[in-house]
Amino acid sequence: MANLEGKVALITGASSGIGAATARKLANAGVTVGIAARRLDRLEELKSQIEEDGGKAIVLEMDVTDIKSVENAVAHLVAEGTTIDILFNNAGLMPLSEVDDFKIDEWHRMVDVNMKGLLNTTAAALPYMIAQKSGHVFNTSSIAGRKVFKGLTVYCATKHAVTAFSDGLRMEIGKKHNIRVTCIQPGAVSTELYEQISDPVARQQMEDLRKQMTFLEGEDIANTILYALEAPAHVNMAEMFIMPTQQEW
Ligand SMILES: NC(=O)c1ccc[n+]([C@@H]2O[C@H](COP(=O)([O-])OP(=O)(O)OC[C@H]3O[C@@H](n4cnc5c(N)ncnc54)[C@H](OP(=O)(O)O)[C@@H]3O)[C@@H](O)[C@H]2O)c1
Repeated sequence: MANLEGKVALITGASSGIGAATARKLANAGVTVGIAARRLDRLEELKSQIEEDGGKAIVLEMDVTDIKSVENAVAHLVAEGTTIDILFNNAGLMPLSEVDDFKIDEWHRMVDVNMKGLLNTTAAALPYMIAQKSGHVFNTSSIAGRKVFKGLTVYCATKHAVTAFSDGLRMEIGKKHNIRVTCIQPGAVSTELYEQISDPVARQQMEDLRKQMTFLEGEDIANTILYALEAPAHVNMAEMFIMPTQQEW
């Protein structure tokens, strides 16, 4: 898939952070980007920016936890773009707390969005790639999908699940359907992710991190995605572990 001109991508979590940066990057490379999230105002703003830069974007209202919402958005994208060549499963949240705080609603939201949501979008988009015998799936895991950290236990569990699912998916659909699967595993990225943390101590700890090192930007992750997409068709970048140079852990 070295030439991306005219390809169609579905990007979840496109209303901010890594998803928005990747949408801009892929649109610049000639990809029609289906930008999906719940905050429509943010998606409309992004679409305007992409169009001002000469790209093409399709706004998709999507709650990844709602399979009907996912199916409707995918149908809308395929109606306008004819297929899906690239799926970026990126929507996620990280409301951190210690397990013995029993923030059970937040645990469930992480499982529903980070894991089940990713399965919903994969189920809805993959048949189009299988039908055309080509495609590329990117899943946003994390450094928390490689190691476990105290205070991030449930988040780590969801991201380990994303890492495991990505590897199994790669084995099942690579040779059989000619579809590449890349698991993206960033360290700290400067986005809105920490705003979801309701625990004041955990929130402060994450904010303090910003003073200790230079975070990655969403665009840094977008660049790695473009690199994997532009690799020759026989090359599958299976995992991409992208760290701030100053992140010591
Ligand atoms: N920032 C980091 O340090 C870091 C490091 C490693 C991995 N990650 C992962 O990177 C991914 C992107 O996060 P980010 O850092 O870019 O944070 P972000 O700016 O907070 O973006 C999160 C995105 O997820 C979307 N989202 C949340 N719940 C959703 C739902 N139910 N349905 C659809 N979309 C939903 C949000 O859109 P709406 O609210 O508009 O729906 C938003 O666009 C996440 O999977 C995160 O776990 C982040």
